[in-house]
Amino acid sequence: MKYSNLAVVVLSSFLFLNCGGKEEKKKPFSYETTPEATMEETTTNSSSELETHSETDASMTESVTADSTAVESSETAVMVADIMIHGDDKMMFDLKEIKVKQGQNVKLTLMHTGKMAKNVMGHNFVLLKQGVNMAKFAGLAASAAATDYVPEGTEDVIAHTKLLGGGETDVIEFPAPAPGTYEFLCSFPGHYALMKGKFIVE
Ligand code: CU
Repeated sequence: MKYSNLAVVVLSSFLFLNCGGKEEKKKPFSYETTPEATMEETTTNSSSELETHSETDASMTESVTADSTAVESSETAVMVADIMIHGDDKMMFDLKEIKVKQGQNVKLTLMHTGKMAKNVMGHNFVLLKQGVNMAKFAGLAASAAATDYVPEGTEDVIAHTKLLGGGETDVIEFPAPAPGTYEFLCSFPGHYALMKGKFIVE
């Protein structure tokens, strides 16, 4: 009699500990469980094995869904480099360096945050090919007012926005060029001395 009583005590404490152990292990995933699942967990302390299994299955399914969503969003983030650059009435860009990754599509938004007109304080974003002399390019660009200060038919440019006045915005999209360091500028006459920076493809 004594032994069988002891066996019952040992067995039930084993079950209790086992149950507690499972609850402990599930805690790290608790952020993924729905309110219903949490309620189930708290109300079924003396849960049968079947219930415990179904809860575990539910957590696993939720966990897989959460993971695949995370993968999807990180893939989207890798595919498009969303760049926002501002130019102002003080003849300044707010970025001196832009970094993107090889294989990305670059979605670049230029916003003129000033109030001055395009013919006085116009800004554009021009990304030059490697090896192009910026001063020389800017010299040619200065006489290309009709084409937003980007010389027509030039082979020196990878991508460029249109010329903007205060309050205007332009968005361009282009594939990131080969890894390396490139230069960008505003090609409005005289602006490149201040309005320039590095465009780095990693
Ligand atoms: Cu400018």
